Amino acid sequence: MKKIEDYVLSIPDFPEPGVIFRDITSVLQDADGLQLAIDSMQDCLKDIDVDVIAGTESRGFIFGVPIAYNLHKPFVPIRKKGKLPRETVSVSYDLEYGSAEIEMHKDSIKPGQKVVIVDDLIATGGTIEAAIKLVEQLGGEVVKVVFLMELAGLKGRERLNGYDVASVICYD
Ligand code: PRP
Ligand code: ADE
Repeated sequence: MKKIEDYVLSIPDFPEPGVIFRDITSVLQDADGLQLAIDSMQDCLKDIDVDVIAGTESRGFIFGVPIAYNLHKPFVPIRKKGKLPRETVSVSYDLEYGSAEIEMHKDSIKPGQKVVIVDDLIATGGTIEAAIKLVEQLGGEVVKVVFLMELAGLKGRERLNGYDVASVICYD
C-alpha cells in the first residue's frame, strides 16, 4: 500500500533557485493517490464539530471541496485579490516566494460559525495566517486547519500558536 509521500514529486529550484517545490499534481493524477489524500485529510476532522469548510486559492480548493462534499457542509473560497464579485474583506501577506492579498465575501461566514480551513501545504504559514485573520474578521471561529503537507523547516506552524493544526505528511 503506497503512502502519500510516495506520490509527491519534489522539484528543486522551482519556481526559483533554492526552493524545493513539493508537487501535488503527481498525487492528483493517480486515482489512489487522490483518494488517499482526501481520506487522510478528512480523517483529521473525525472529532471536529464544523459548520463551514474554507479553502485557499487555488490548491486549497482541490482538497477543500471534496471534504466539504463528503461531510455535507458548505465550502467557502478564500480567493486572491480581485476575483470575488461581491463585497469582500481582504488581508495582505508574504509568501515563500513573493507576496499576495486574499479576500473572502463578507457574507460567506456568519458570526459564531465553526470553520475548518483547508490547504495543500504550509510553508512560511503566511497564507494560512492571513486566511485565519479573514475568517475571524467575519466573526468565524477557526476550529481546525488541515494541510496535506507541512514544510517544517520554514516554521509556519509557529505562526499558528493556539490553533489546532494538522498535516498528513511533514518534510524537514
Ligand atoms: C501555495 C500553497 C499554499 C501557500 C503556502 O499557494 O498552495 O497556499 O503557497 O505558502 P505559505 O505557507 O508560505 O503561505 P500559492 O500562493 O503558491 O497559490 P496556488 O495554490 O494558486 O499555487
Ligand atoms: N508553496 C509555497 N512553498 C511551496 C513549496 N516549497 N512547494 C509547493 N508549494 C509551495
